[in-house]
Amino acid sequence: MINSIIRGTGMFVPPNLMTNKDLEKIMDTSDEWIQQRTGIKQRYWIPQEGVTGASDLGYEAAKKALDAAGWIAEDLDFIIFATLSPDIMFPGCGCLLAAKLGLNSTPALDIRQQCTGFLYGFATADAYIKTGLAKKVLLVGGEVHSSGLDKSTRGRDVTVIFGDGAAAVCIEGIDTQEPVGLLASVLHADGNYAESLMAELPASRLPKRNPDGVPLDDPRYFPVMDGPSIFKKAVRLLPKVTYEVLEKAGIGLDQIDLIVPHQANKRINQAFGQFLKLADDKVFHNIEKYGNTTAASIPLALHEAIEQGRIGKSGETVLFVALGAGLTWGASVYRFL
Ligand code: ACO
Repeated sequence: MINSIIRGTGMFVPPNLMTNKDLEKIMDTSDEWIQQRTGIKQRYWIPQEGVTGASDLGYEAAKKALDAAGWIAEDLDFIIFATLSPDIMFPGCGCLLAAKLGLNSTPALDIRQQCTGFLYGFATADAYIKTGLAKKVLLVGGEVHSSGLDKSTRGRDVTVIFGDGAAAVCIEGIDTQEPVGLLASVLHADGNYAESLMAELPASRLPKRNPDGVPLDDPRYFPVMDGPSIFKKAVRLLPKVTYEVLEKAGIGLDQIDLIVPHQANKRINQAFGQFLKLADDKVFHNIEKYGNTTAASIPLALHEAIEQGRIGKSGETVLFVALGAGLTWGASVYRFL
């Protein structure tokens, strides 16, 4: 049996720390509101727009993950890049990252599944590995949100949430009879709710991709979100998909050592923990430091959980769960070798 094992993780956030107090200076919001509604205290944004794209942050995270795995870029036989904020419309960040790593023929794939990007990416890596198409895969989640946010009061509900950052994992297929590695994945999508959270422009369905004469501060350039409806969906669907993936993995919740959920809102993850009657220390949070880094959020949280010794010993089992734009949602269960 070929199972997918994580060999190394790495993360990178840009140096520009933006606290809630900093946001108070540019829009009508407050540290109190942001902390109370989301749990976020600060996030990192790129220092200067127009210089850095998601693949640049991904490159920094990828180098660290490769070092942690003891690999060099030439060892890779597949690259997956999950992002909703690609450097350019095309080609994808996977190709751009591969070039930055000095590679010129390694296959590279982009995943556009927003907050669920890491889960889709891990399941895809596993499928490639299990079918023999790849053995050593680099999976990166990376976002530069800050250059695409409405930083006026009009966009405050969305803008205060998002942070820039990237994280990467090196995944290898090994031949084993032990129940280790990625034990199960469950993925879902419902495009009927696409408009609950979307950024519309530029759009291929529109003439010249933008309607003529649309100013650059038109709200359609920025993410718009029906926050309360997504919140309610998350609180209902995250526990449901957790039970679904546990059943698929053939294990109980009591066999999960740590849950590393997508970091969208601390209140969502606390409600999720309460619904499942989990002790507080069973659900990992780092949203207070980074905000919502979307495709980077789960691997970034995993990296920190491993660094803090919260998870990672042989035989320990972690459950990942996420919901985001699309709508997309899913969960996976991973056991350390
Ligand atoms: N500062 C101050 N006040 C604000 C801010 C802000 N930043 N944003 C909104 N408000 C105000 C609103 O205008 C509203 O005022 P009103 O009552 O006078 O009309 C009030 O606060 C309440 O607004 P709500 O939107 O109802 O606030 P809510 O408690 O729902 O919190 C939030 C908003 C944080 C966005 C929440 O709904 C949420 O987290 N939703 C889910 C987000 C999510 O999981 N997204 C998916 C992942 S992201 C991805 O996939 C890319």
